[in-house]
Amino acid sequence: MSSDVIVVGLGYVGLPLAILAAEAGHTVTGYDLDTGRVKRLLAGESYVEDVTDARIAAAISCGRFNPTATEAELGAFDVAIIAVQTPLRDGAPDLSYVESAIRVLAARLRPDATVILESTVYPGTTEEFAGPLLAELSGLRPGPDFRLGFSPERIDPGNRSWNLASTPKLVSGVDGKSLTAVRAFYDSFVQRTVPVATPKVAELAKLIENTFRHVNIALTNEIGMFAAELGIDVWAAIDAASTKPFGFMPFVPGPGVGGHCLPVDPVYLSWRVHRTLGKRFRFVELANDINDQMPQYVLQRLSAGLNTRRKCVNGSRVLALGMAYKRGTGDTRQSPALSVIDGLLRMGAQVRVADPHVVEETSVDHQVVRVDVTATELAAADAVLILTDHDEFDYQVVAEKSGYVLDCRGRLTAGSVIELL
Ligand SMILES: NC(=O)c1ccc[n+]([C@@H]2O[C@H](COP(=O)([O-])OP(=O)(O)OC[C@H]3O[C@@H](n4cnc5c(N)ncnc54)[C@H](O)[C@@H]3O)[C@@H](O)[C@H]2O)c1
Repeated sequence: MSSDVIVVGLGYVGLPLAILAAEAGHTVTGYDLDTGRVKRLLAGESYVEDVTDARIAAAISCGRFNPTATEAELGAFDVAIIAVQTPLRDGAPDLSYVESAIRVLAARLRPDATVILESTVYPGTTEEFAGPLLAELSGLRPGPDFRLGFSPERIDPGNRSWNLASTPKLVSGVDGKSLTAVRAFYDSFVQRTVPVATPKVAELAKLIENTFRHVNIALTNEIGMFAAELGIDVWAAIDAASTKPFGFMPFVPGPGVGGHCLPVDPVYLSWRVHRTLGKRFRFVELANDINDQMPQYVLQRLSAGLNTRRKCVNGSRVLALGMAYKRGTGDTRQSPALSVIDGLLRMGAQVRVADPHVVEETSVDHQVVRVDVTATELAAADAVLILTDHDEFDYQVVAEKSGYVLDCRGRLTAGSVIELL
């Protein structure tokens, strides 16, 4: 069955979803306030790794995908998806983007239409915030008059094994009819939907997934810092522990966490717990503390490494490999690599940076020189810092030509010129 779909927010989540729904035969209007993004889409150009230019051009040319930044161009819909950002403001959830998306949709809401929230939110948002606001603005009730549900996005940008279609999709609704409608929509283009009893279960499930990752990364970062002081190779120890076929899942140290999810989502949960129960979520607070201090730890380690070589950070030429928050993406939001680069600049280093995925020139300070990773660049650097282990870097050349490497991602083997974080 083909539906008229509106996707509000064409970012890392909304764009892949809009294209996949269009490819499944739905007629999708993609609405985004960012005129620059819409212009690029209309020119058949993608800004998200997981969606190719060809797919965008094909979806537009067959009339199934219509990106727009003009609210007046939006009509009525059968299904609407909200995929706008949900950041923090002053340490608390900022639902203002969700609210503005709801206002746009409420004006076009018809009986029996379906509204689905995909943005990551705290438990209770769909039933206690989205539903009442839609009802107040439209005069229609969620459940009896229109369908409402929550389906968290699990997309992992750059992941080649799991994508939007192959990753099981949690679906929920405020009542049975809503669940059926939400599920039917996703069943038209994902391989497997997993229904859960209420939107709160789905909202919490999403936050459990991200908090689990956040806490385990912090645990491994703390173990890594102690192991370095104890003179033990933590990477080898993690590899060894990973041979246990049950009860263990490997996480590796790194320069910190970034992106839109890990630095933010656990706080949505701890905020909700504190707000509703008056209790502190100590695991989340501790994980935040540890992960936040990692860029500073990287600077300390680099400083110590240069010191061993009778150099100091001030005046040294440092070549940083990677700006994105993780491998395979050009997303620099809250990237720890940028914090490290800022710290290096403050300490007086001459910073040069290579990142084949990051196209925006605005990501780093103008003092930073963008370069390609060449043998000459590597040899001229006092220190090479691997901050994001993109597959495009030639690690053999990095190992052969560099005088000193601090590898924060465990991509190289430790040796006389190579240190692992
Ligand atoms: N990026 C990820 O890997 C990922 C994974 C899972 C879940 N999520 C969650 O999905 C949501 C979206 O994340 P994202 O990374 O796609 O964000 P994004 O910032 O890339 O995209 C959001 C888009 O929404 C647009 N927007 C905001 N308010 C709008 C409005 N009222 N009308 C129209 N457009 C509007 C913005 O201009 C922006 O282009 C967040 O809640 C995030 O936590 C993200």
